[in-house]
Amino acid sequence: MNAVETRGIKKYFGSGETRVEALRETDFDARFGELTFVVGPSGSGKTTLLSVVAGLLDHDEGSLHVLDADMGALSNAERLRFRRQNIGFLFQQYNLLPALTAVENVAVPLIANGIPRRPAEERAATLLETVGLGPRMQAVPSELSGGQQQRVALARALVHNPKLVICDEPTAALDHKTGDAVMALLAEHALNPERAVVVVTHDTRVLEFGDRIAYMDDGRITQIEERAAVAEVS
Ligand SMILES: Nc1ncnc2c1ncn2[C@@H]1O[C@H](COP(=O)(O)OP(=O)(O)O)[C@@H](O)[C@H]1O
Ligand SMILES: [Mg+2]
Repeated sequence: MNAVETRGIKKYFGSGETRVEALRETDFDARFGELTFVVGPSGSGKTTLLSVVAGLLDHDEGSLHVLDADMGALSNAERLRFRRQNIGFLFQQYNLLPALTAVENVAVPLIANGIPRRPAEERAATLLETVGLGPRMQAVPSELSGGQQQRVALARALVHNPKLVICDEPTAALDHKTGDAVMALLAEHALNPERAVVVVTHDTRVLEFGDRIAYMDDGRITQIEERAAVAEVS
């Protein structure tokens, strides 16, 4: 069984003459124990695919299996709970809560899963240290640079040890060295047969961190490359 399986997924935006078909019968797999990259031109549907897989956006046709769940068979409440427990995500807008400090933002997924505040913030603090933000733990998002906010959002995506981690351009705002550290953390998270990591990137430097690359074009996955080939292109 794969960690993610989409079959014939279609997603439309708008209607009539202005209708955009963002996903056209998209078949996408992510395997357990692997970091899978999704790459492709701007507008090819990468963010839409991640949003559907994360359960943040409903699709119009096709089937979606995530971990052991048939997402189409879950009620809205079940899907919300499933997402809270099992999925960590980092999108291009970091969606940090502006009134909360970095450590409070990172603790949110734990508190949403019923963990008391103090142990939640202790675990959040440990992860902020790991991403190099220990000294900025008490800052609110507006006091942090874009790259720092991105790392807070990454820590929040990982804090509850989710089985599936989904990241849209996680190194976009980072210098080379910090970007490599972030990718190493994501690759390490994937080194577990019960977990999977899916990363959209434009950053060809980081492709060496992946096990497979899925190429996306015009709403479809057009090609898959395994790790041996990944090493050659990067
Ligand atoms: N909320 C939206 N409303 C209308 N069109 C959208 C919306 N989100 C994405 N699209 C369109 O869907 C297509 C795929 O977009 P997206 O998934 O963001 O691509 P990518 O992440 O690969 O750049 C594009 O044509 C984009 O303009
Ligand atoms: Mg995008």
